[in-house]
Amino acid sequence: MAYRVQGVVVREKDAPATIETIVVPDPGPGEAVVDIITSGVCHTDLHYKQGGITDEFPFLLGHEATGRVAAVGEGVTEVAVGDRVILNWRAVCGQCRACAKGQPQYCFATHNATQKMTLEDGTELSAALGIGAFVEKTLVAAGQCTKIDEESDAAAVGLLGCGVMAGIGAAINTGEVRRGESVAVIGCGGVGTAAIAGAQLAGATTIIAVDIDDAKLEQAKRFGATHAVNSRSEDAVEAIRALTGGFGADVVIDAVGRPETYRQAFYARDLAGRVVLVGVPTPEMQLELPLLDVFGRGGSLKSSWYGDCLPSRDFSMLIDQYKLGRLDLDGFVTERIGLGDVEAAFDRMSEGTVLRSVVEL
Ligand SMILES: NC(=O)c1ccc[n+]([C@@H]2O[C@H](COP(=O)([O-])OP(=O)(O)OC[C@H]3O[C@@H](n4cnc5c(N)ncnc54)[C@H](O)[C@@H]3O)[C@@H](O)[C@H]2O)c1
Ligand SMILES: [Zn+2]
Ligand SMILES: [Zn+2]
Repeated sequence: MAYRVQGVVVREKDAPATIETIVVPDPGPGEAVVDIITSGVCHTDLHYKQGGITDEFPFLLGHEATGRVAAVGEGVTEVAVGDRVILNWRAVCGQCRACAKGQPQYCFATHNATQKMTLEDGTELSAALGIGAFVEKTLVAAGQCTKIDEESDAAAVGLLGCGVMAGIGAAINTGEVRRGESVAVIGCGGVGTAAIAGAQLAGATTIIAVDIDDAKLEQAKRFGATHAVNSRSEDAVEAIRALTGGFGADVVIDAVGRPETYRQAFYARDLAGRVVLVGVPTPEMQLELPLLDVFGRGGSLKSSWYGDCLPSRDFSMLIDQYKLGRLDLDGFVTERIGLGDVEAAFDRMSEGTVLRSVVEL
């Protein structure tokens, strides 16, 4: 017996997100069905809608969610019915090359549900990041459920399921920001602002926010940015160098993911500094850099998938930081909306008027 629920689907490239009836199968072995409580609107959902991730339409959007386990399939031991969980897109396999080396944060064979959710006519849906959470119930692999406490605000902590974890992790895991370092973050949406908060948590003392929108920059200061640069009116590289004794920052995080922002990050870091790419480029983008500069400037160029997080380790640690008042997760929730408001939330994201819109179910 399958569940029939309402969810947000994009049928083809650039088509509007519409509410459809979704058929969610009973959980099979290793799977869980989760009642979604809240789900944040991430730029990656918009990338899916625009065909920037894959062309496997139709998509069931949403992936930044808090929920409660409604049913589990055979052999599930990780979670039980009634558990309050954040959904993650890194259910590690324990057996691939990365896991075998003791680096499960890079797991190359993460689990998703084996069965597919469908439209009423049987059309199989591609769930965003193997989750699909703008829906009343979703089907995931049990390992995609990370159990959390009962009391913290679902909308706030659910953001750890993607963008906020990606940003914080880009700073603390991938960038390995240390006390006293200088950090610049290019692009101050949900992900970049979280990278700023992460840099502050790690003890960075100079934190430079870069964006093309003054409102985003003002907001970034509330999350720990010590300086702000509008790269529409100032040269980002020159400005970051000027704020770091003429040298460049120890760590520069590109939370936009375009060739021009990556180039800024590359040249705005100090010699032997680290560049972290956490913004997601689209397939047609190309980068050209003098190879001699890549060599001569030393340091490392890293990409950050999901902030190199390990959900079982990082989610509860960050919820504890939130409860101790060191991480303002509430500040990321700009507005709470309904399932029917996702399309309008994409517009507000593009206008730059929200940090996170969170769907409440
Ligand atoms: N690596 C990961 O695991 C991961 C996870 C989640 C999201 N992402 C990606 O991170 C990126 C940011 O996501 P978001 O949800 O924060 O998006 P967002 O739309 O909320 O924010 C983007 C920000 O970048 C700014 N911006 C745009 N162009 C710019 C430019 N040329 N220079 C400076 N600033 C610029 C915008 O003004 C905005 O503030 C997206 O590409 C998203 O797909 C990556
Ligand atoms: Zn693995
Ligand atoms: Zn996301």
